[in-house]
Amino acid sequence: MDLSELMWKRKSIRNFRNEDVPDDLILELIDAARSAPSAGNCQPWHFYVIRNENVKKQLYESAYRQSFLLSAPVLLVVCAVLSRTSGRYGDRGVNLYCIQDTAAAVQNLLLRATSLGLGTCWVGAFDENAARNALNLDKDKRPVAIIPVGYPATDPAKTSRRPVGEIATFIR
Ligand SMILES: Cc1cc2nc3c(=O)[nH]c(=O)nc-3n(C[C@H](O)[C@H](O)[C@H](O)COP(=O)(O)O)c2cc1C
Repeated sequence: MDLSELMWKRKSIRNFRNEDVPDDLILELIDAARSAPSAGNCQPWHFYVIRNENVKKQLYESAYRQSFLLSAPVLLVVCAVLSRTSGRYGDRGVNLYCIQDTAAAVQNLLLRATSLGLGTCWVGAFDENAARNALNLDKDKRPVAIIPVGYPATDPAKTSRRPVGEIATFIR
């Protein structure tokens, strides 16, 4: 599948089959994520792989009980590691680059998952402190995304996109 096709094939999946995803596939996802660009190549990311039912439940609670989180065999939590960027870039590193870098890593991860036949959904609506507590995170790690990973149980329609004419300006 070519890259454009893959990008358009990716969709948020919120229904998962009752089937495990082996660690070697999860490692493939993290490998794709770490190939993302980052400011100064600081790579300010850390990936938590959660299979523990108690921790999953706490993350589900932190995400305002979005129930599909409980139906995925694996939850990933992508964190920004602030100190990896702050030394070099100060506030801009902590408040902007870290977030951009981890977002790029997340997108790579979602695309690799699609290519492996796995379903994912980028979950950003969660209480940061509650997610922090679930994982015992220190102040240096900011949870940026929770990503359920599993085999899709459904194939939802592709969501619509704004036309290019509305979102692009050519200045010649
Ligand atoms: C930063 C961010 C936060 C999001 N948070 C949530 C979320 O908390 N719950 C959810 O179900 N989907 C969440 N989504 C998924 C979006 O709803 C979804 O990407 C969008 O509707 C487009 O659909 P698609 O992913 O199927 O293309 C989030 C996506 C992004 C990029």
